[in-house]
Amino acid sequence: MRATSRFAAALALAGAFLAGVDAIQGVTRNGRYLYTADGNRFYIKGVAYQEQGAVVADPSNPFLEPSTFIDPLSNGTACARDLPYLQQLGVNTIRAYSVNSSLNHDSCMQAFSNAGIYTIIDLSLPGNGSMDRDAPSWTTNLLDLYTGTISAFSKYDNVLAYNVGNEVVIAANGTAAAAFVKAAARDVKAYLGSIKSSALVGYASIDGDSSWLAPLANYLSCDASGSNTGTTAIDLFGLNNYEWCGASTFEASYSNTEGEFAGYNVAAYFSEFGCITSPPRLWTEAVALLSSEMSPVWSGGVAFSYFPAASVQGQFGMVTISTDGSTVTTSSDFDNLKTQYGLASPPNSPSQSSAGTTSYPSCPQANSTWLASTSLPATPNLAACECLENNLSCQFTPTTNNYTAIVGSLLDYGCSIIGQAGGSCNAISANGSTGQYGPVSECDPTVMLSYVMSEYYIANGANAQACSFGGNGTVNSKAPSSAGSADTAASSCLASATSTSVPTLPAGSTGSSGSSGSSSSAVSVLADARTLVGMGVIVAVGMASGLWTLA
Ligand SMILES: *[C@@H]1O[C@H](CO)[C@@H](O)[C@H](O)[C@H]1NC(C)=O
Ligand SMILES: *[C@@H]1O[C@H](CO)[C@@H](O)[C@H](O)[C@H]1NC(C)=O
Ligand SMILES: *[C@@H]1O[C@H](CO)[C@@H](O)[C@H](O)[C@H]1NC(C)=O
Ligand SMILES: *[C@@H]1O[C@H](CO)[C@@H](O)[C@H](O)[C@H]1NC(C)=O
Ligand SMILES: *[C@@H]1O[C@H](CO)[C@@H](O)[C@H](O)[C@H]1NC(C)=O
Ligand SMILES: *[C@@H]1O[C@H](CO)[C@@H](O)[C@H](O)[C@H]1NC(C)=O
Ligand SMILES: *[C@@H]1O[C@H](CO)[C@@H](O)[C@H](O)[C@H]1NC(C)=O
Ligand SMILES: *[C@@H]1O[C@H](CO)[C@@H](O)[C@H](O)[C@H]1NC(C)=O
Ligand SMILES: *[C@@H]1O[C@H](CO)[C@@H](O)[C@H](O)[C@H]1NC(C)=O
Repeated sequence: MRATSRFAAALALAGAFLAGVDAIQGVTRNGRYLYTADGNRFYIKGVAYQEQGAVVADPSNPFLEPSTFIDPLSNGTACARDLPYLQQLGVNTIRAYSVNSSLNHDSCMQAFSNAGIYTIIDLSLPGNGSMDRDAPSWTTNLLDLYTGTISAFSKYDNVLAYNVGNEVVIAANGTAAAAFVKAAARDVKAYLGSIKSSALVGYASIDGDSSWLAPLANYLSCDASGSNTGTTAIDLFGLNNYEWCGASTFEASYSNTEGEFAGYNVAAYFSEFGCITSPPRLWTEAVALLSSEMSPVWSGGVAFSYFPAASVQGQFGMVTISTDGSTVTTSSDFDNLKTQYGLASPPNSPSQSSAGTTSYPSCPQANSTWLASTSLPATPNLAACECLENNLSCQFTPTTNNYTAIVGSLLDYGCSIIGQAGGSCNAISANGSTGQYGPVSECDPTVMLSYVMSEYYIANGANAQACSFGGNGTVNSKAPSSAGSADTAASSCLASATSTSVPTLPAGSTGSSGSSGSSSSAVSVLADARTLVGMGVIVAVGMASGLWTLA
């Protein structure tokens, strides 16, 4: 008896172990569709999973007030609390908007993996961890943040995709920023390749006018190398779409969008969907999205949002969490989505073998309405930027760890006075529409600032006073006197850093972002009734006012 029960226990254990072995399947993209390893078509039945951090509702404030984000994958207790509800909803994917690579994600990622739930991880962070849409650039600090996050998540088997940006381009006049997003996609793709990761590279776009939305989608998935390769192409285009409200229909809410993406070459999904204006939401769009009407174009979507989230236009969320964090209360939003996801049954077609290979069309050429050049910025090179910083004769030496807020104003100031001193800020300027990128524009904004300070200092006869900048600059006694002007140092250090390369993790990085400062964020409230920034509000950022780019 004893032996038998021990045998039974052993069997049960083996069963549990085997269940563990039955790991979540890898997902790959073939042409414009996604497939699990067993050859079935994969549709994202997702929900946004990120508690809203503190946000500051003043987009006109160029020195953004500090804010926070709450990493949704770092607290195993919270994930265990939520998992049964995610399972009730019937989701197979969650989207996380900001994670901190120096925290431990094992517990959440394991629990979700065991439950068959994939993750879409956005790589940007609020504040200086995302591209500034008013003065976009692709710089070492962002690249290192992105690779650090990927490195921290590369051990998990349930990362479906990494998003290189969310709502960076929000209007026709900002389309030049797409050049930097595309460079980020290129470098992240190369990095993933180097670590043998098969995770997809995504971008999540705000909805908008087809005059720029369609070119944006095409540009991000096009071949910028001229040889039909996907090296600069995203795998997964996300559209944040809030068009369906109430008991709408495919024809009324989605047929236009469907038409715009009819010929798209890579996979597409709704990176956010829901209704802004008429709670409680019925979520009937989930059935439409996961139907044979939309399956030729879309691979599902992510309902916004599990946690409560507020925007000026509306309230979101399908659960509330008790103040002590221990219990979850669901709302009718939750029940409705659960019902509709339960009713969805998208077709398992086309088959993987008939999905075809991807063709990567050539890129849309810049014109008066589509502003992004096909000439992309270089892969940011940390060693080259460090060489420059070390060789500069005047260095930015912030008196506070929390220096992000002053870098923008000092750059604006430095560039406004440098012209009078016979210099220019061309070396730090990046122009995504002309495709001209100053050699220093790939460096961290703090290095750009040291560069500008050095230029000013040298133009003023190396007078120590000209390096002070109100106590923010220090003469670099170790700078070689032979280095001469800031431009000479820049050209010697950055000469070989003007091309595309496979990024590596910075030395000494263990997948930690190493960032210790506070993050800032802005709420961007858009008037466009078609669009809404959901959790994406937190990545709207203005680090520099952008004034200096005109200098
Ligand atoms: C685009 O136009 C809006 C207002 O029409 C303006 O606020 C914004 O700064 C412009 N963006 C760029 C990148 O020029
Ligand atoms: C993790 O989440 C639980 C449940 O909300 C909460 O009680 C706990 O304080 C959280 N832990 C940390 C370190 O934030
Ligand atoms: C600019 O290029 C885009 C993308 O190719 C195209 O959709 C648009 O019609 C062009 N605009 C003009 C004014 O030529
Ligand atoms: C200064 O620049 C030279 C030439 O590029 C480089 O060899 C040297 O390593 C740099 N110095 C430092 C301290 O980085
Ligand atoms: C953001 O700024 C803080 C200092 O305020 C710095 O510690 C951190 O490394 C920066 N992060 C990025 C991604 O630039
Ligand atoms: C960081 O700097 C900003 C702007 O100067 C300030 O408002 C904020 O309180 C500072 N944050 C911290 C944590 O010191
Ligand atoms: C980029 O260059 C074009 C053409 O010279 C100019 O009109 C535009 O203002 C520049 N953009 C930036 C951000 O400097
Ligand atoms: C540094 O620069 C900022 C922004 O221009 C200024 O407010 C501050 O007084 C300067 N000096 C120090 C010591 O921070
Ligand atoms: C990441 O977490 C570490 C450890 O709690 C913290 O020191 C750091 O500030 C966090 N980074 C960001 C960008 O929030």
